[in-house]
Amino acid sequence: MKPSTLIAPPALVRRAEKHDTKAIQALDSAHFIHPFTDHGDLATRGSRVITHAENIYIWDSEGHKILDAMSGLWCVNAGYGRKELADAGYQQMMTLPFYNSFFQTTNVPAVQLAAKLAQLAPEVGGRKFEHVFFSSSGSESNDTNVRMVRRYWDLLGQPQRKVIISRNNAYHGSTMAGASLGGMSGMHAQGDLPIPDIVHIEQPHHFEHAHPGESQDAFGLRAARWLEEKILSIGADKIAAFIAEPVQGAGGVIIPPATYWPEIQRIVDKHGILLISDEVICAFGRLGHWFAYEKFGYKPDLVTFAKGVTSGYVPLGGVMVGDRVAKVLIEKGGEFNHGYTYSGHPVACAVALANIELLEREGLVARVKDDTGPYLAERFAELNKHPLVVGAESCGFVAGLMLVKNKATQQPFDEGVGVGMRCRAHCFNSGLIMRAVGDRMIIAPPLVMTREQIDEMMALIKRCLDLTESELRLVGELG
Ligand SMILES: Cc1ncc(COP(=O)(O)O)c(C=O)c1O
Repeated sequence: MKPSTLIAPPALVRRAEKHDTKAIQALDSAHFIHPFTDHGDLATRGSRVITHAENIYIWDSEGHKILDAMSGLWCVNAGYGRKELADAGYQQMMTLPFYNSFFQTTNVPAVQLAAKLAQLAPEVGGRKFEHVFFSSSGSESNDTNVRMVRRYWDLLGQPQRKVIISRNNAYHGSTMAGASLGGMSGMHAQGDLPIPDIVHIEQPHHFEHAHPGESQDAFGLRAARWLEEKILSIGADKIAAFIAEPVQGAGGVIIPPATYWPEIQRIVDKHGILLISDEVICAFGRLGHWFAYEKFGYKPDLVTFAKGVTSGYVPLGGVMVGDRVAKVLIEKGGEFNHGYTYSGHPVACAVALANIELLEREGLVARVKDDTGPYLAERFAELNKHPLVVGAESCGFVAGLMLVKNKATQQPFDEGVGVGMRCRAHCFNSGLIMRAVGDRMIIAPPLVMTREQIDEMMALIKRCLDLTESELRLVGELG
């Protein structure tokens, strides 16, 4: 695919309108409660108003062009301005904008999408995914998972199997169940979470938890065995499922050692526990595969998806239900008293079908696997030469690095320095969206990004790291 064919023709490029930024900011802070936002801070500084987007770039109301290395929020896999997706939504709205899928009713796009997803989800170790449950987000999908696994064990006559094991620093959404499954201490601290029967083990983060000199492989095995220790301490007969992201995203792009997932698989198999792969970020090409469990070779029973299924153009999420669970729910379950108004929303499903068709037509999943992903890995690893950086690595089209005060000893900065936020500010001001998670800087670019655009992004990242370094020297945080 030539880069030029991936960029929308000029006719599609909307011109920046004139915006009264101050007026929008005032209205914003007066009326709009934003997710994950300090509103005192928002009122003082004003939000950044994003007005339009094309390909891998977004524009703000002041006319600044910004390279979006986060794909919106890990979701705009097909890039911005894709007319096919807008057309599919428009056509479906004019045909059937909504009908519910409760009470033995269905609609054509939802059926077609379910069948398409079943075709895309690879069979592993004799385990198939023939069924899909639809929602509108990753959080809702994980709520569905909690209800589904508990229902599964009830139907098998083991109602005491209720406990779901997750990991610290995992992100599984923001509903009561999603935030409880997640392992974010800041979220647990608000609203009395986690809810009962959700417990956590430590994450497989070599930088933070490895013993001095411990190899990646040895650490990966040890980290997976924390799951077995937890199972044994609670009693295997009480455990319903283990949930994990293939690569942790919001936690800071933490890529597990190669030994981790095979050992997790051994442990869940040994104890008969269901495995939930939360692929809200990792599916639909993000790691160079339609579904990420294929990359790591493990065999989940349920797979959570959202975001990239529609490239974020409209909300859609769901759960791929593997045969082990589907068979019990369907054959023994009777009515499953669960569902959302927008489960199988025809417009969302039509956009998802168009998005999948586009990803297939342009070969974007294979391109991330075989071409741009390896190229990004090569270029991103070069950042390890930078005086502030350790552990710069990528997996498909997610990448992360750690900012440290002393490279040789890997000494971190004091928390008060806020090094990640300083670096992020330089990114914003230099026309780059790169996210800070503590002292980690992370990216998840649109899958349409070309090699040339990877070079452009890397030059920006390098410049922002240099600016961060200069600032730290100026304030006396570096020798
Ligand atoms: C792995 C994972 N699961 C679940 C979610 C929640 O998805 P949503 O924000 O669509 O509810 C996210 C969001 O980033 C996620 O990364």
